[in-house]
Amino acid sequence: MRRLLIVFHSRTGGSRQMAEAAADGARAEIQTILRPADQATAEDVLAAAGYIFCAPENLAALSGPMKDFFDRCYYPVLGRIEGRPYAQMVCAGSDGENAARQTARIATGWRLREVQPPIILCTHAQTPEAILAPKTIAEADLSRCRDLGQTIAAGLAMGVF
Ligand SMILES: Cc1cc2nc3c(=O)[nH]c(=O)nc-3n(C[C@H](O)[C@H](O)[C@H](O)COP(=O)(O)O)c2cc1C
Repeated sequence: MRRLLIVFHSRTGGSRQMAEAAADGARAEIQTILRPADQATAEDVLAAAGYIFCAPENLAALSGPMKDFFDRCYYPVLGRIEGRPYAQMVCAGSDGENAARQTARIATGWRLREVQPPIILCTHAQTPEAILAPKTIAEADLSRCRDLGQTIAAGLAMGVF
């Protein structure tokens, strides 16, 4: 059975809520695996027909554990997942573009196909206290993540991708 893999990392809960919302949207359409980045393996990547990657931007870069997931899995799956569809979501304080660019470059290396534009959500946390505080993503934003998950899952289930 075709399966969607959602890999996420989150320090303060924002990206986790986004990934869970995408999984909620996807599950009605297709088997969906939601994996924390530090538990996701090359076998998970090979076993999926499509992907959603979701992580925070930290220090103008993809967060460390998400980068580690890509570092661990990059060569074991290189050349074996070409053409598969993906989308990405970023949780950021005020920017998020660099993290999205990094993921897009890695996905280009894997020859994945971006089938939806990235969702970049800014929590507008500015002070150290606000940045380190647990995040609550607004329902309207979670709804966008749910829609993204459902769109990709429906496309996979119908064989559109
Ligand atoms: C160490 C650290 C570095 C950060 N650097 C950035 C940054 O470069 N750009 C940005 O927009 N947000 C930055 N942030 C803010 C986080 O992206 C933001 O708080 C986001 O909600 C984190 O997602 P999470 O709740 O899934 O961990 C940083 C946060 C931390 C803890």
